[in-house]
Amino acid sequence: ETKTTSTIHEVKNHVGQSVTIGCWLNNKRKSGKIQFLQLRDGTGFIQAVVVKSEVPEEVWESATKLTQESSMYITGSVREEPRSKSGFELTVEHVEIIQITQDYPITPKEHGVDFLMDHRHLWLRAPRQRAVLVIRAEIIRAIQQFFDDRGFQLVDPPILTPSSCEGTTNLFHTKYFDEDAYLTQSGQLYMEAAAMALGKVYSFGPTFRAEKSKTRRHLIEFWMIEPEMAFVDHEESLRVQEQFISHVVQTVLNKCRAELETLGRDISKLEKIQAPFPRITYDEAVEFLQAAGHEFPWGEDFGAPHETAIAEKYEKPVFITHYPTGIKAFYMKPDPNRPEVVLCADMIAPEGYGEIIGGSQRIDDPQLMEERFKEHELSSEAYQWYMDLRKYGTVPHSGFGLGLERTVAWICGLEHVRETIPFPRLLYRLYP
Ligand code: 4AD
Ligand code: MG
Repeated sequence: ETKTTSTIHEVKNHVGQSVTIGCWLNNKRKSGKIQFLQLRDGTGFIQAVVVKSEVPEEVWESATKLTQESSMYITGSVREEPRSKSGFELTVEHVEIIQITQDYPITPKEHGVDFLMDHRHLWLRAPRQRAVLVIRAEIIRAIQQFFDDRGFQLVDPPILTPSSCEGTTNLFHTKYFDEDAYLTQSGQLYMEAAAMALGKVYSFGPTFRAEKSKTRRHLIEFWMIEPEMAFVDHEESLRVQEQFISHVVQTVLNKCRAELETLGRDISKLEKIQAPFPRITYDEAVEFLQAAGHEFPWGEDFGAPHETAIAEKYEKPVFITHYPTGIKAFYMKPDPNRPEVVLCADMIAPEGYGEIIGGSQRIDDPQLMEERFKEHELSSEAYQWYMDLRKYGTVPHSGFGLGLERTVAWICGLEHVRETIPFPRLLYRLYP
């Protein structure tokens, strides 16, 4: 006897046929002589119906034994069922139990966040968590597609580094045999070298910051997409960024309707995310905050409440440009007309999700670069190779970094970044 195996996602191709699916029990309901099994197999969810009068006694008994998260191969015929969420239903013919699960810790009742985080390895099975991870994977595909289609080359910067990119306060220290090393905060400096070799490049990888702050936007380990472009100035970089974000959001809207629905996301808000995006300068942002009653002196960096207040004025992400030189990274190019500000922009997501992109035009003048190293007390020895990029055929160039988890949080409409990554590394949380 040959069995047709299927996944829940693929049952649409087997209407009227009998299929076998490897799956888990998500939930169960009994109504007299009928049992309704809610099944999941990772690709989706489906209801299977066991009718006592239509199956052998042992099949009915097997179904009766099934508990939450019990594993099995189930065989049944596929029917179209317009009333069900998936559009299909199984009429059960056979159940082959793999394991009857005892005392699954995550029950359908409400659990606290700490409990769920301790059981993250199981929590991932919940419909909402599955939806987030499916959308995360789609976002990654859309990101790579955007850059691959536009002639960018994927380049992988190192994870272990001898020096810092984004300041020394949150470096993750480790030993590298007899030397000191740090987990990368950003691949940017290496991507600048790659851009001088390949023109337009992007990286996608994990980055690390020993952030002592416990907020809903900060992870210790997060993933960044870092494009770097030779012969591209600040203005053109902003155009790439708005096209890029529009593409990602519209792709998720096209491909992940069911998952967005599972999350209860307000789709109409995402539909508005189309380039161009509004731009304001740091100066204008400060004026706005002061007028709105915030005590905010020029020259300070925005905190989360400031970003949220600014973002609330817009339905799309907003670029805040031209920050004071003193609060931004050493490599940012000063505005030639006004050296006290730099040619940079942060992109602030709508709905209070905060900064999702940080980017800038980079200093290309070797002399100014040397000065900056001195001002920032960076050892010119460790950055010798970075200086070489300015010495041997320097060109104007720009780049930016998108934080993947903040982007997932925004698109999914999640309260906290901890649900945007399979196993979040948070302050004081390394388990599981
Ligand atoms: O603004 P940041 O620090 O910029 C850089 O690292 C640049 N070197 C990027 C570049 O130009 N190539 O970080 C970029 C983005 C932020 O906008 C934010 O979305 C995210 O990375 N990010 C974090 N996400 C989660 N947890 C953290 N602790 C994050 N820190 C930054
Ligand atoms: Mg930033």
